[in-house]
Amino acid sequence: MASPASTTPTVMCRGERFRLFLDEATIQARVRELGRQISADYAGRRPILIGVLNGAFMFLADLMRAIDIDCEVDFLKLSSYGAQKVSSGQVQELKRIDADVRGRDVLIVEDIVDTGLSMHYMQRLLEAHEPASVRTVTLLHKPDATRNDVQLDYVAFEIPNLFVIGYGLDYGQLARNLREIYILDEEATDVPAGD
Ligand code: PRP
Repeated sequence: MASPASTTPTVMCRGERFRLFLDEATIQARVRELGRQISADYAGRRPILIGVLNGAFMFLADLMRAIDIDCEVDFLKLSSYGAQKVSSGQVQELKRIDADVRGRDVLIVEDIVDTGLSMHYMQRLLEAHEPASVRTVTLLHKPDATRNDVQLDYVAFEIPNLFVIGYGLDYGQLARNLREIYILDEEATDVPAGD
């Protein structure tokens, strides 16, 4: 049941109010669950986690500590939002991976799949390196916003099509350091009753 709006914690970011959406305990419990699932699915293998900077750094750090099999990490950096809340529709590759992923089991780790443009781009990019396998992990997925063809193998939370910040996700580079995830307050009033 939703809490009365007056008791829901809020934060201000760049002059706009955001409401608590996922608290720290809920996020951490789900991340540990995903870590256990990935550890079981990749038992006897040595996956390489490819984190997508900047947003995924916090989720990736917690997820990796929840994985108890041998695994490696590398990063790439994309940008499609700049300082805006809406995707520019163009993906820029700002940093390439350093690892040789040919013949490797690759796990792409994202903070959020919104339109799906970035994930679609990365799947094609990594498949071109001829890995043994490519699977995807995302902390958040907005199914109602996803317009691109993406394969999502591990999804921590499906969320409504609302702007979110915290736990790595930013608004104009701010709010990444919040331990919880918050949604923009004025948009939150549009969530259908019962959600
Ligand atoms: C965000 C997020 C994803 C992407 C998702 O990155 O981290 O990579 O957008 O949106 P999409 O599904 O519509 O492509 P952003 O460009 O904001 O960079 P950041 O990770 O540095 O915040």
